[in-house]
Amino acid sequence: MSSILGYTYGTAAVQRSPISLADFELMKKSVLFGDEDVKYLRLSYDVVKDQVEAILDVWYGFVGSNPHLLATFTAKSDGKPLADYLAAVRKRFGQWILDTARAEYDQKWLDYQHEIGLRHHRTKKNRTDGAASTDIVPFRYLAPLIFPVTFTLKPFLAKKGHSAADVEKMHAAWVKSCLLQVTLWSHPYVKGEDF
Ligand code: HEM
Repeated sequence: MSSILGYTYGTAAVQRSPISLADFELMKKSVLFGDEDVKYLRLSYDVVKDQVEAILDVWYGFVGSNPHLLATFTAKSDGKPLADYLAAVRKRFGQWILDTARAEYDQKWLDYQHEIGLRHHRTKKNRTDGAASTDIVPFRYLAPLIFPVTFTLKPFLAKKGHSAADVEKMHAAWVKSCLLQVTLWSHPYVKGEDF
């Protein structure tokens, strides 16, 4: 069990994803995600692993400077940012960077994607950290955040001396992975069988 509070990846606390690995294969095909992307995500692991805090500074800076995004980390009562909640989520976010780069996209990973979706949705938001925050991360902000997340990641991918072509491939793999993940996270927001 990890020492990161609420990080339940691979444990019995995580329910099975309603999406099968076979469904996920077709999602991968739809975004042109293949073995090469797995290879370049894994190449990015060593690139990002000692830059996690710096990356999070940029991402949290973006969310923090946008009141409509920061709102999801504020107290429901007075709208003030909840520092403990932000800090607790940040630890799991850092682990997510590594998990994305590890690219072991198996059943355990798929199941945890569903858990992350539930944690953005009203089904489970706030529960993990006992936060007295807003009820839901609005669906309309989920996919748009993929752009700032991956665009601002690129300079970090370029910091360890890889060729421009390799940086491009790592970046593309990250964009595809984020598209797949955010789509998986959308499951609780989508009506019945429409997913
Ligand atoms: C590309 C889009 C996004 C990525 C990659 C991302 C990533 C993450 C990760 C890794 C976590 C922690 C999951 C865990 O518990 O292990 C998390 C939680 C959270 N995210 Fe996001 N997120 C995205 C979009 C958003 C947006 C648009 C908002 C707000 C407007 C948001 C607000 C939150 C909140 C409030 C939590 C804590 C949920 C809880 O109570 O457990 N996220 N996110």
